[in-house]
Amino acid sequence: MINPFRYGGIVGEGSFCDREQELRDLHRAMENGERLFVYSERRMGKTSLVRLALERLPRDAFDAAYIDLWPTDDEASFVAATARGLSESLATAPERVLEAARAFFQRLQPSLVLDTQGRAELRFALSATQSTGPELENVLRAPARIASRRAKQLVVVFDEFQRVLDYPSDRVERSLRSAVQEDAAVSYVFLGSQKHLIRQMVLERTSPFYRAGGHFVLRPISADAWDPFIRSRFSASDRGIDSTLIERIIDLTGGHPFYTQHLCHTLWELTEPACEATEALLEDAVELLLERESFAYLALWESLAMMQRRLLAALSEQAPVEQIFASAFVQRHRLKSASAVQRAVRALLERDLIDRSNGSYVVSDRFLALWIRRRHPTRAA
Ligand SMILES: Nc1ncnc2c1ncn2[C@@H]1O[C@H](COP(=O)(O)OP(=O)(O)O)[C@@H](O)[C@H]1O
Ligand SMILES: [Mg+2]
Repeated sequence: MINPFRYGGIVGEGSFCDREQELRDLHRAMENGERLFVYSERRMGKTSLVRLALERLPRDAFDAAYIDLWPTDDEASFVAATARGLSESLATAPERVLEAARAFFQRLQPSLVLDTQGRAELRFALSATQSTGPELENVLRAPARIASRRAKQLVVVFDEFQRVLDYPSDRVERSLRSAVQEDAAVSYVFLGSQKHLIRQMVLERTSPFYRAGGHFVLRPISADAWDPFIRSRFSASDRGIDSTLIERIIDLTGGHPFYTQHLCHTLWELTEPACEATEALLEDAVELLLERESFAYLALWESLAMMQRRLLAALSEQAPVEQIFASAFVQRHRLKSASAVQRAVRALLERDLIDRSNGSYVVSDRFLALWIRRRHPTRAA
């Protein structure tokens, strides 16, 4: 029997929990030629969500280009990734993709190259040293040309969009901003996994993307949606789990999809066929999971300055934290002064290790908080 819980890759139809409202919002934006920014911490389900939304679009009315900017680090790699994504939106067979690339990106000299697994991959003749200005313009104007040539709505998704901020120059950011202005036949979705960066891009007056479109933060999935999802997967695989235990799981993970799937995966593993999951097994599952993550967590912990560790430890405590700049809090956690807290907050926000929530701050990774609570009592900091 295979484990019905998946974590790590993209989850699609059949292993996808809820997000009905978000799917509707995305669909509306895709239909209407909007520009939409969706952001959240990593592993909250952005890629899975947008891929599912794309999959559900009727092929006869939409073309969809999915462009992952994660591997890009400069203008040349951005141009190649975008040209590849757009070409692949027009065909599936490699020969046809090449044909499409030749039709729209002749100047980039497209060719097919076999990758290590023998699959044909589209390549372009572009080097980081050559000036890519005209190529950049060409690739950014292509969506409008494609949409009008095909007489379909074109949806362009840029995943891990915050990568453009790391490029040596800001030309991509600026050119992209003017290229995505008002064209009803092309819709753009920008996904970002460093919340503070995307928030800055959309909300700061000085940013080229200031008010460039709508935006929403992708939140954890609710306990109500997880309950039937988890229960049905246990029962369909000859195991049982009750709602009280599911509530415990969601308490621990905050409904964060990756950690919920990971914990359920481990709990399922520990539950014998024809048996019920129990509180004790859940405890074992949590320990096992923390053990697996502990190497990464330790490396992270050691990379933090003392004040940052103390603040993170304080925010990892179970009680809700308010008023982190108040002197009682500062003294109890040996944080020196309100301004020292301020600096630590800024540093931790910068790394997305903490997040604003209802006027206070929480540790973004629920399992890191748990690990700190169990393995690194504050006095050790
Ligand atoms: N709607 C969902 N239902 C169930 N699990 C999900 C859902 N969305 C995400 N996940 C879980 O979270 C993991 C990370 O999702 P992913 O789409 O890669 O997130 P992101 O792109 O935000 O980093 C998936 O491997 C899966 O385990
Ligand atoms: Mg992703």
